[in-house]
Amino acid sequence: MQKILFVCLGNICRSPLAEGIMLHLKQKNNLQLKIDSAGTANYHVNEAPDPRTIANAKKNGVDLSALRARQFQVTDFDGFDKIYVMDKNNLKNVLSLAKDQKHKEKVSLFLNSVYPGKDLEVPDPYYGNEKEFEDVFQLVYKACELYITNLHSSN
Ligand code: 4NP
Repeated sequence: MQKILFVCLGNICRSPLAEGIMLHLKQKNNLQLKIDSAGTANYHVNEAPDPRTIANAKKNGVDLSALRARQFQVTDFDGFDKIYVMDKNNLKNVLSLAKDQKHKEKVSLFLNSVYPGKDLEVPDPYYGNEKEFEDVFQLVYKACELYITNLHSSN
């Protein structure tokens, strides 16, 4: 079973959204996957996702209300096969915690897993408005769908 961890800064907007969408698609597609998320910062540990992220996801049929924020830990390098970061700052921060090449190779920009080589980031909606939250939802949902399509075709 593949184990994947999504990482952003606060673990209250982008990475719990990716986790919740992937859990939703996992159920829908009957997949074997371990999915989790974490933040590189500790600002929001134990908090539910941002109310705006929860509300927007709910509007789109995805329930994030049970998720709680946690901080990324170095033990996550052993606990997961893939560590998908949302932007280049998080990439730099997570890579700086990796002890060796094997751990470094687990880390990549999430959008590079489905749009290889483009180095696209999932923009942070935290200081944005409703449209930014909707745009991030659509971007992450499409990427998660593509990810699952690719899983199917590689099996
Ligand atoms: P996230 O968004 O990294 O997608 O969870 C943010 C959440 C909180 C903060 C920044 C970004 N913050 O500065 O508290």
